[in-house]
Amino acid sequence: MRRRSTRGFGARPLSIAQVALMVWAAQGRTTGEHRTCPSAHALYPLTLTVVAGNVDGLAAGTYRYDAERDVLTLITAGDHRDRVAGTTLADHDWLRRAGALLLLSGDLEAAARHFADQPPLGRRGARYVWLEAGHASQNVYLQATEAGLGAVLVAGFDDDRLLGLTPAVVPSGQHPLGLLGVGHPADGRG
Ligand SMILES: Cc1cc2nc3c(=O)[nH]c(=O)nc-3n(C[C@H](O)[C@H](O)[C@H](O)COP(=O)(O)O)c2cc1C
Repeated sequence: MRRRSTRGFGARPLSIAQVALMVWAAQGRTTGEHRTCPSAHALYPLTLTVVAGNVDGLAAGTYRYDAERDVLTLITAGDHRDRVAGTTLADHDWLRRAGALLLLSGDLEAAARHFADQPPLGRRGARYVWLEAGHASQNVYLQATEAGLGAVLVAGFDDDRLLGLTPAVVPSGQHPLGLLGVGHPADGRG
């Protein structure tokens, strides 16, 4: 009932524990090899990159989430929220004020190969990856709501500009699927 898209983010930093909770909600392990997200053939084709900018206890930078170990690894130091938010299609100026951006990406070709024997031939795999990105996004929304945080899924971005950022934010060979802004709501709601 309380889940909503939040586009007004306040100056209060996220805590590292809140970021840990968000990435775990998106892709974390639960029991055995299973994760918070359902996944066709339990393939888990998504990669989660955190663009951290306003997080207490976590230096600004882009980080890759290792779901197996529940660990974030620094990819590029510095605050890259502006660069990433600048690739969105509409006026998403507010997005750069989210404490962290969670970028979901996946290798659509690898998924197409994995599910090559399922019709429609060559197209089924990518469909599964997109569906899974939706599940991960909803998990983040729900966990953010429960934690009193705001979240929004922004999928309206220019793929080529996002893929062309230097230093890279999207892992090589992967396709950007969705960008989630997470932060404290400006109105103190929650
Ligand atoms: C696939 C998808 C793409 C979306 N892309 C954007 C976007 O690019 N920018 C944005 O501000 N909101 C985006 N949203 C959020 C929707 O605008 C939002 O969910 C909708 O207005 C309903 O509001 P609610 O989430 O508060 O219920 C997207 C949502 C979905 C499911």
